[in-house]
Amino acid sequence: MEIYPVKGTHDIYDKDAYIYQDIESRLIFVASIHNCNEIRTPIIEHTNLFVRGVGESSDIVNKEMYTFEDKGGRSITLRPELTAGIMRSIVSNKLYANADLPLKYFYRGPCFRYERPQAGRYRQFQQFGVEYVGVSSYLEDAEIIALGYHALMVLGLTNVKVYINSLGDEQSRKNYREALKEYFAKHIDKMCADCKRRYEVNPLRILDCKVEADQEIIKDAPKMSDYLSEDAKLYLNNVISLLKEIGIEVIVDNNLVRGLDYYTGVVFEYHAEKIEGLDNVGALGGGGHYAKLLKEVGGPDLEGVGLAFGIERLAYVYTHVHGSKYANIGPDFYLIGLNQEIIDKNFSLADMLRSKGFVIDTNYQVKSVGSLLKLAVKKNAKFAIIIGEEEMEKGRVNVKNLRSQTQTSVELEDLAQTLESLIIEYEEESAKLALEDVK
Ligand code: HAM
Repeated sequence: MEIYPVKGTHDIYDKDAYIYQDIESRLIFVASIHNCNEIRTPIIEHTNLFVRGVGESSDIVNKEMYTFEDKGGRSITLRPELTAGIMRSIVSNKLYANADLPLKYFYRGPCFRYERPQAGRYRQFQQFGVEYVGVSSYLEDAEIIALGYHALMVLGLTNVKVYINSLGDEQSRKNYREALKEYFAKHIDKMCADCKRRYEVNPLRILDCKVEADQEIIKDAPKMSDYLSEDAKLYLNNVISLLKEIGIEVIVDNNLVRGLDYYTGVVFEYHAEKIEGLDNVGALGGGGHYAKLLKEVGGPDLEGVGLAFGIERLAYVYTHVHGSKYANIGPDFYLIGLNQEIIDKNFSLADMLRSKGFVIDTNYQVKSVGSLLKLAVKKNAKFAIIIGEEEMEKGRVNVKNLRSQTQTSVELEDLAQTLESLIIEYEEESAKLALEDVK
């Protein structure tokens, strides 16, 4: 019986795994220069954490959670996002007690949402995010938005737009909710079943609806900006001008409400600009300010702001932008032994070369030099090191550059040193070729 992957999941291997690793290490670098520490929390949490944290009116809690009863009869959920779990961890470990605020954490890991799989939408996907907790001003909101923007620049994704909105303070949101209820009351009969539910629990959610016919109605709905208090407007403008000062232009989008209930105040999203051949995979990342989430999960009254990127979506755009940059992942040297005795000796030679930091692969089966060279090319090795009986006797090896096909005879004694300079030359040559490619 063939067992298929679960719908909406995918395996990440070889080139893709390399790209994921590269993306994550760049994101970690950007989080680190903002002095964030890492936090790792469990994939499973008690269901009520998400019900209270992410919110009962959100689609995530309503329809998308992987929830099950464990053997002890507890209701457990695979995390649909990480922010709520991080708040729970901050409370469980009293992380706020001895630290200077704000706490600054970055995190990464899998999330689970039972959504309809489509381009850029999976049921298991990876997030990378950052949370600042114990924040006190618009400066932290601006810093988080800038951090996310810099992360995209470090990934070379310059074709990105940042959208921003404010959900205002409690009174602004209350007034706006009433205005929306009044407006949608006239239309709700014609709208989708989800919108009917949203109308009852949280009419703001209707603005998030993707159904085309509903969007026509949403287009003329009252705008949040008309209901913002003066303080909330000033706060949003302060964030926008701070970002402008450092060269980040953001676009105000009045319909940006985000799909989670914990946001208050500033919310934002990063989208890749439409370019030829690039599917619309939705937001690359998003986040916002949350004033009550920590308190909601049993902690002190501290506000937070954070963001998360979807690694699958970043990887998709990244691959599109950088093309075949990773086509050549492979060992530095493929060590070829032409008989069993040499293959046995190569075991320790490979070990010595790896200890010098070279990426080494080698053959453990006797095969012809021709087929082993073919294998080295298939593995994308930069060089093959060929050792036959004759070479062994002379204490020399042949090193073949698999790109230029040139071959050098090298004394075994000087091997590590010579390989070092060969790799440097190879990389310089690669840089030159890449430059010519761009021209
Ligand atoms: P979110 O907008 O639900 O926010 O998810 C963040 C990012 O995760 C999205 O922008 C998208 O790139 C990715 N994502 C979401 N769902 C999927 C999916 N089904 N398949 C692939 N990628 C997906 C949050 O999760 C908040 N916790 C962000 C945050 C952090 N707010 C404050 N702090």
